[in-house]
Amino acid sequence: MSTERAYKRFTISDRIEHWSEMLAFLTLGTTGLIQRYAKWPISLKIMEGLGGIDRVRLIHHSAAVLLMLAVIYHIGAAGYKYYVKRTPIKMLPNLRDVTNAWGWVLYNLGKRDRHPQEDRFTFGEKLEYWAFVWGTIVMGLTGFALWNPLATSRLLPGVVIPAAKLAHSLEAVLAVLAIIIWHFYNVHIKMLNKSMFTGKMSEEDMLHEHPLELADIKAGVHLPIPDPEGEKKRLRIFLPVYFVAAAVMLAGVYFFIAGENTALATVPPATDIEIFVPLTPTPFPTAAPTPTSAPILSVTWDGGVGELFNTKCGTCHNASAMLGGLDLTSYQSALTGGKSGPVVVPGDPDNSPVIIRQEAGNHPGQLSPEDIDILREWISTGALEK
Ligand code: HEC
Repeated sequence: MSTERAYKRFTISDRIEHWSEMLAFLTLGTTGLIQRYAKWPISLKIMEGLGGIDRVRLIHHSAAVLLMLAVIYHIGAAGYKYYVKRTPIKMLPNLRDVTNAWGWVLYNLGKRDRHPQEDRFTFGEKLEYWAFVWGTIVMGLTGFALWNPLATSRLLPGVVIPAAKLAHSLEAVLAVLAIIIWHFYNVHIKMLNKSMFTGKMSEEDMLHEHPLELADIKAGVHLPIPDPEGEKKRLRIFLPVYFVAAAVMLAGVYFFIAGENTALATVPPATDIEIFVPLTPTPFPTAAPTPTSAPILSVTWDGGVGELFNTKCGTCHNASAMLGGLDLTSYQSALTGGKSGPVVVPGDPDNSPVIIRQEAGNHPGQLSPEDIDILREWISTGALEK
């Protein structure tokens, strides 16, 4: 256990910010990338594990809200630190960062014996911070366009929305790769930097990573000269301004979330699908068209009634078949009648068996109602031959 001096690097507020942003970032990255690469088996596994696309979207949106809140908090914390406390703004980039970046390249290539001497934030840390700021602005604006396409297309041309989708999706890949390659390497692999857990950094690490800041601390010039009166005055200005700004930003977040409901709803997957395959009805062989009776010229045997009897009744009631003792093929035989006597009573269709049998229906040779009417008329007009 080293008894070395440790230097305060991050306040508890800084660390809460870092962890909540990290939680939001990891959640957004995971739930976002599995949507970008939705067909990858691993994406499907995670998607399933999280409970489906609708749940994934809800988690993604919740993490976005957490990040927006963290940003609002960060603006307040930075304002307090730099405006009220007058802490020097060490995060701003400057020319030294460019020379330091070049110095690191030369050092890493073995062209220099010593790496550049860094202050509170190395050029890499500044780059990462500003990349995060820029990335959050891009993701926030494009995310807004995707979440609120109607509001967006009222201000901008509609083509902005698919463009926003592409930018949102590509920036996500960039951001995740940057964190994995740049941040993880520098903070966890190159050296195990625990300052975000403990808030402190050892003297040895300070000497190695932030020698200029260490020199300022040792010289006692790293903090501004205490000014409690001025601080109080500035706090009285800062607090109301920040509260108004925060209220406006929170209203913005609310509009972001609840402004419109345009997201496509997904249809729940059907589990049991009834497949209905209607049987193709096989058409029944159409009955061969029956020869239509010759047009009735006059209602007499020769005028068409004889023809009607011959075509519709003649197959069974002819001189040789004589079914029922009846031959309906000639005028004489028709008037003669069958086994029960005359079937035609001239002038009295109601008592004529031909009519009675046919009107009863279901006769092996059945006439249509129209044909029966013709027969009726023929009989009532005297059942004439000509
Ligand atoms: C497929 C054969 C068939 C055809 C076609 C047919 N009949 Fe008949 N008909 C019969 C048979 C069998 C009988 C005897 C049995 C019965 O009385 O039902 C009969 C009996 C009758 C009788 C009663 C005869 C009697 O004296 O008892 C009448 C009237 C008659 N048919 C009228 C007609 C008329 C009118 C037609 C044409 C529109 C016709 N039939 C076509 C089979 C046929």
